Amino acid sequence: MSLKNNILDLRKRKEKAQLGGGEKAIQKQVAMGKLTARERILAIVDEDSFCEYDLFVEHQGREFGMDKKVLQGDGVVIGTGTIYGEPICIYAQDFTVAGGSLGLMHARKITKIMDHALKLRVPLIGINDSGGARIQEGVDSLAGYGEIFFRNTLASGVIPQLSVILGPCAGGAVYSPALTDFVFVVNNISKMFITGPGVIKSVLGEEISMEELGGAKVHSEINGNAHFYAETENECFEQIKKLVTFIPWSCDKKAKSFPAKPPKPEYKIEEVVPEDPTIPYDIRDCIKCIADDSDFFEIQKDFAGNIVIGFGRINGETIGFVANQPLVLAGVLDCDSSDKAARFIRFCDAFNIPILTLEDMPGYLPGVDQEHAGVIRHGAKVLYAYSEATVPKITVIIRKAYGGGYIAMNSRHLRADFMYALPTAEIAVMGPQGAANIIFRKEIAGAEDPEAMRVEKVQEYKDKFANPYVAASKGYIDSVIEPEEIRKVLIHSFEVSKGKVASMPKKKHGIPPF
Ligand code: HXC
Repeated sequence: MSLKNNILDLRKRKEKAQLGGGEKAIQKQVAMGKLTARERILAIVDEDSFCEYDLFVEHQGREFGMDKKVLQGDGVVIGTGTIYGEPICIYAQDFTVAGGSLGLMHARKITKIMDHALKLRVPLIGINDSGGARIQEGVDSLAGYGEIFFRNTLASGVIPQLSVILGPCAGGAVYSPALTDFVFVVNNISKMFITGPGVIKSVLGEEISMEELGGAKVHSEINGNAHFYAETENECFEQIKKLVTFIPWSCDKKAKSFPAKPPKPEYKIEEVVPEDPTIPYDIRDCIKCIADDSDFFEIQKDFAGNIVIGFGRINGETIGFVANQPLVLAGVLDCDSSDKAARFIRFCDAFNIPILTLEDMPGYLPGVDQEHAGVIRHGAKVLYAYSEATVPKITVIIRKAYGGGYIAMNSRHLRADFMYALPTAEIAVMGPQGAANIIFRKEIAGAEDPEAMRVEKVQEYKDKFANPYVAASKGYIDSVIEPEEIRKVLIHSFEVSKGKVASMPKKKHGIPPF
């Protein structure tokens, strides 16, 4: 064959392979409101930057008639590309080919690109749209998942790993996303579950739809498996492109710096925090008073709303924000909010992102439900994550810092580098009402007018402890500052912390309270 004919032959082969499961299957995919695997990749990476590998890989299934089936590219597209000119590794499962099910060669393609990502020290983006382990390939499919999970674990904390759920994600398919750093879901399209509605019906006799079992809202609002929720695939891709502007490409690097921008003038802390300490406010407005251009990119925003986490920039540098939310459960720490905060703190620490903690909370949530759900173990994760983190860590106490909350929210005692408090801060073992009722119980009970005595004792307790000056007098707080000073003080503190050196005792690894 001449070179020209060879080229024509190659083009034909490519065209056929790129058609995946064929026109009919693609039409079915489109009818479900879904893009195809290649369209998804092209929507994420820079124009003309995608380079595909293993297009001609063939499956090796021989049982149940598989030897007669052609599965183009074995149902997954892998390659490298760039986002904002920086390299990334990416794969997208192709549901039009055997439901994106994972057989031996499908898994090998994914692990090949994962190995590249780890070697090249670039982020890995996995687009999941799969019926899970390919049933006809038996143990080879299970082995394939094991190889993926192992690599997810090796890469954890070395390169950022992003999982995008764009279709069903059943059985083994859910565990790779669960091992990665950020999971993206899209309304009506994403479905994640270990066992599908069919199995649930036959085993438990319960009828449930895929959406109710593991739809996008379930994962972003109820169980917190997802970090970002979008209404459409394109909105999801925009979220991915925004997220990567905040994070470094690997643990050896720092996130990119951007030109500094002041917060928008309408955001002023003194106007956001109410005069009356019993009135709640939205802590995200406080963050917008501090972050460059008032731009805050919130993570898990519909899950465990009593804590707010996300990225913003201060003076052009990425900062991880962790903040109690007085609007939800008064900002207490409970099982879910502890999980949410601890994992984010560990991500920031692994990827050299300084952490700013904004504190206003009355402590851990009391109650039988929380005790039985393991608030001791989950709550300990926050203590562990802050204590272990060696990135610059700064705290500003806005109002309440009571009890375990004072300690847990990046206190000096867990090695905060700088501790600041507004004059409105109240630092005490518990709230004045509860404290007065306990320590002045006898005086109140024995008084002629117990109510008047209670009010007097509450005030006495407030005057003595519910302020930042006792903690400041002991050096636990470095400085009591005015609201207008916050950003300036923080810019200075993060600037002087840039060369921070801190280390942990030599060990194989710690044992966090998982
Ligand atoms: C082989 C599969 C498959 C699978 C889907 N297909 N899942 N083939 N193995 N796991 C095939 C279908 O046979 C069909 O092929 C095509 O993909 C499209 O599937 P449909 O069922 O027509 O699509 P849809 O109605 O949209 O339903 C999607 C689905 C459903 C919900 C994902 O296919 C499903 O329930 N699949 C099984 C899910 C599951 O239980 N997976 C667990 C596997 S065990 P044709 O040729 O007809 O087009 C597992 C254990 C690993 O993963 C544990 C590791 C920790």
